[in-house]
Amino acid sequence: MFIKIGLIGKGNVGSCFLELLKIKKNYLNKKLNLKYKVIAIYEYDGALINEKGIDIDEILLLRNNFRSHKDWKENVKAIDSISNLNLDVCIDTTPTNPNTGEPALSHIFKALNNNINVISSSKGPFYLKYKEIHDLAKLKNLLVKYEATVASNVPILSIKDSLKGNEIISIKAILNGTSNYILSRMSSEGVAFSVALKEAQELGYAEADPTLDIEGYDAAGKLVILANELFCWSKTIKEVKIKGISKITQHAIELAKSEGLIIKHLAIAEKGTLIVEPRLIEKDSPLNIEGTLNVIELQTTYSGPIIIMGRGAGGYEAGSAILNDLISIHRIINNIK
Ligand code: HSE
Repeated sequence: MFIKIGLIGKGNVGSCFLELLKIKKNYLNKKLNLKYKVIAIYEYDGALINEKGIDIDEILLLRNNFRSHKDWKENVKAIDSISNLNLDVCIDTTPTNPNTGEPALSHIFKALNNNINVISSSKGPFYLKYKEIHDLAKLKNLLVKYEATVASNVPILSIKDSLKGNEIISIKAILNGTSNYILSRMSSEGVAFSVALKEAQELGYAEADPTLDIEGYDAAGKLVILANELFCWSKTIKEVKIKGISKITQHAIELAKSEGLIIKHLAIAEKGTLIVEPRLIEKDSPLNIEGTLNVIELQTTYSGPIIIMGRGAGGYEAGSAILNDLISIHRIINNIK
């Protein structure tokens, strides 16, 4: 049996996911018995559609000229088309409008309403409508996976499966690479805020609107998803107390340093509250990470602190999280232990 996939969004994340499907094809087919067909790849202005399966190698070779492929159909929209293709899994990698969660939110509801499992790397739907999405998935007996939304393939949402015999007391994390990069550059090299922000933008880490990074909204969204997942909450981003880093001066950083402390932009969930704000931490704290990395520290009852760190953004980073979610769905729907 083939898993029939519809991919929405062929940007960096969508393209890297397709490349990983190709790179790991043998492993997926032979080791995991996961056979797939990509039936549709949607963009904003049309779609590649082939009910027998799109030739991924051809599409990857074409790079940004994929619209010249014979399977390309102008003006086909995912929202109108996904229900007509008998898909097993719909993967959304579209950029999110942070206020509405669109277009991913509508794609997710449409897929679930049409009995299609969902994988998403789009965060907005999950920090705005976490409960509604889960309620619908439960009602329809479908799977929704979104590991890529928080720290990409750093396996922090799925860690809850390994901690069922433990108890998580609190989460402290750095979940936004851009703001951590800025603070790191200001602190270690004395680089001005605006210069460091520009560098982060050039690295391709910052959101299209970088105020989402520096004012803490992006980290807050990820914190909501993470806390909902690990604490079984149903909160939204409106419940996060958010303070950004745009008012952090070089003077404040130097003052902290003279006391042996570091200013970091932390995302904290504990005792029912959600906070994103700059905080002073000890120099030798495990949260004192440099550059664009993400780090998450869970305080647990029976293991003390559990710390996990890695690259939280990027095409392959998110693409590999999506592939892992696909493997999980394959195992569950095919009842593989
Ligand atoms: N703008 C985000 C960051 C990208 O800097 O971490 C990953 O979600």
